[in-house]
Amino acid sequence: MTTREQRKDEHIRLALSHPVTQSSFDGIQLVHRSIPAIKRSDISLETQIDSLTLNFPLYINAMTGGSKWAGEINRKLAIISRETDIAMAVGSMHAALKNEELIPTYRIIREINPHGKVFANIGADVPLSSAARAVDMLTADALQIHLNAPQEVVMPEGGRDFSDWLTNIEGIIRSVDVPVIVKEVGFGMSAETLEQLRGIGVQIVDVSGRGGTNFIYIENERRPQKDQSYLSEWGQTTSVSLLESQPFQQEMTILASGGIQSPLDAIKSIVLGAKAAGLSRAVLTEVETNGLEAAIQLIETFKAHMIDISLILGARNINELHQVPYVLSPELESWQRQRNLK
Ligand code: FNR
Repeated sequence: MTTREQRKDEHIRLALSHPVTQSSFDGIQLVHRSIPAIKRSDISLETQIDSLTLNFPLYINAMTGGSKWAGEINRKLAIISRETDIAMAVGSMHAALKNEELIPTYRIIREINPHGKVFANIGADVPLSSAARAVDMLTADALQIHLNAPQEVVMPEGGRDFSDWLTNIEGIIRSVDVPVIVKEVGFGMSAETLEQLRGIGVQIVDVSGRGGTNFIYIENERRPQKDQSYLSEWGQTTSVSLLESQPFQQEMTILASGGIQSPLDAIKSIVLGAKAAGLSRAVLTEVETNGLEAAIQLIETFKAHMIDISLILGARNINELHQVPYVLSPELESWQRQRNLK
């Protein structure tokens, strides 16, 4: 097994044994109304991600590929995505771009779900030609580019040169003909980052904030010295990142992921302006701990409950969810005020 394959398996193993923290969405309260004045059949949560239409504002976010175990997990995630009719991303495709033998561990998702919405995934440092190859490999509907600087720094074998990322992302956007989603991996995004991304023409961003999978924890566990746990609170939570994104939401499509633990968290993320919510570790843990049927049930329950919550909020669609009034905790309100986000 190569170092890269070993790393993929360690990421999965550590994500499965990862501690769960309190949801960052606990700091947001949706305002109840006693007369919602709509019926359940009025509700459609279809959502528009740039030119891409998703039937439901939920997706399985990027995780894996590139080893035997990862390929098996991708096979199961693809079945979940097909059976529940939600979009799915694969994990970083660098392994397949470097070694053709590993392509099937990613391509399996297209074989299992030929008509589903599928996102390819690469890092911000890959050559332009590789970006197009990654999309072609899966006949992907969109391309995710992940930003993971803190993870690289804590990863013993990680990169230390981020100077080309912005120009490279700009080139990738020009060189592929599918929508490009720039995403974090659990450290969240700030208005400053969004300003940089908007400046180079990025239209879709997944803020993927702190509060769920923590790559400082995961990479620290892989370090022989385990000496960087003091960084484990690095980054912005998903709810803070969504507040940071609010000034950009007219021009950019914002997606939410990072510690979405419940259907209520997903709805809160949409109320804060996201167009859809992504789940990674929650699905991985369910499928690896309780099996495929349980994971399909988890997503079906998420979908049903997200509609139930929309019903009691009186919101018939994503636009009406964006209008739902909410109250922030003193901590979130203070962040919003200090950062002049309103
Ligand atoms: C990830 N994530 C990730 N993201 C990415 O863009 N490329 C990748 O290769 C990976 N790899 C990966 C492996 C594993 C095992 C996990 C759990 C996650 C990050 C993921 O897409 C997401 O941004 C974060 O995990 C936050 O969401 P959750 O896990 O808190 O729902």
